[in-house]
Amino acid sequence: MADTTGSDMKPGSFMSEKSAKIFVAGHRGLVGSAIVRKLQESGFTNLILRTHSELDLTNQSDVESFFSAEKPAYVILAAAKVGGIHANNTYPADFIAVNLQIQTNVIHSAYTNGVKKLLFLGSSCIYPKFAPQPIPESALLTGPLEPTNEWYAIAKIAGIKMCQAYRIQHQWDAISGMPTNLYGPNDNFHPENSHVLPALMRRFHEAKANNAEEVVVWGSGSPLREFLHVDDLADACVFLMEKYSGFEHVNVGSGVEVTIKELAELVKEVVGFEGKLVWDCTKPDGTPRKLMDSSKLASLGWTPKVSIRDGLRQTYDWYLENVVQKKQ
Ligand SMILES: NC(=O)c1ccc[n+]([C@@H]2O[C@H](COP(=O)([O-])OP(=O)(O)OC[C@H]3O[C@@H](n4cnc5c(N)ncnc54)[C@H](OP(=O)(O)O)[C@@H]3O)[C@@H](O)[C@H]2O)c1
Repeated sequence: MADTTGSDMKPGSFMSEKSAKIFVAGHRGLVGSAIVRKLQESGFTNLILRTHSELDLTNQSDVESFFSAEKPAYVILAAAKVGGIHANNTYPADFIAVNLQIQTNVIHSAYTNGVKKLLFLGSSCIYPKFAPQPIPESALLTGPLEPTNEWYAIAKIAGIKMCQAYRIQHQWDAISGMPTNLYGPNDNFHPENSHVLPALMRRFHEAKANNAEEVVVWGSGSPLREFLHVDDLADACVFLMEKYSGFEHVNVGSGVEVTIKELAELVKEVVGFEGKLVWDCTKPDGTPRKLMDSSKLASLGWTPKVSIRDGLRQTYDWYLENVVQKKQ
């Protein structure tokens, strides 16, 4: 019987095509910038990059003109409207519409303009709120989503399904990777809408600079979370471009879990804040555990390399150089 999923497609020769045109969408973001660094380190010489103001990926005709003029051979789609719970709750229409527009425009134009392979990036929020832990790829669409980010999650699920649909109908090599929580250079350290790790780093840094006695953190510190350095993610993306041409999306995690308390203690140590860390247990904790099952990626032969301690040190150095010094 014919394989209707296209999962028997053979990966090509990405790593040997160092002068192939590669479009990295979202190259100034946390993920896109790490992918650009990794591709450059690996010897790729023909990256096509466009800032948001040079090419708005929500504009269908601009995206189509760009693809028909540039004709990239490969696409890595790391452009998205990204944000925390507050942003998702406040701008649900933007989260669903902008992400659907970006990915639909890029995936469709990439296919119609002869792109050989495309990697679409989503996130762990695609999985049901009560998915088994660690979360395997097969948990997708098995239960209701976490309501706070369902707009974003639905768009990302549509992206995975779009890659699968184009693979089935057109035998086109579109794959999807689902990273866990990421951190690293170019993260968002904004006081109101950053993720937990950069938010802790900023708060400890400011407490140290102001000689504060304590830093109060919401919750009990007991929830378990997984973190992956963005350089490891970029390494995994290049690995998937070379080795993977399957139908199903692939989880990309570190497999290393820390409690929020352990994370906060580590960040405090890396920043060098010597005051007290106080837990405000009257505030909510969130999901007790969230870990991806990344055994599929491991079975393909990929493992992460950056330890959380080294990753935090490198991220704090970046923060000092690029956020703190630029403000002075
Ligand atoms: N950060 C994480 O922990 C994490 C975890 C798992 C998965 N991911 C996934 O990784 C991908 C990238 O996330 P990120 O953290 O790198 O986000 P990010 O730092 O906010 O970067 C997103 C990039 O997309 C660009 N972009 C947004 N809207 C655009 C538009 N309409 N036209 C052109 N460019 C546009 C942004 O440019 P402007 O800033 O100029 O708008 C930015 O360069 C997302 O799909 C996300 O789901 C991230």
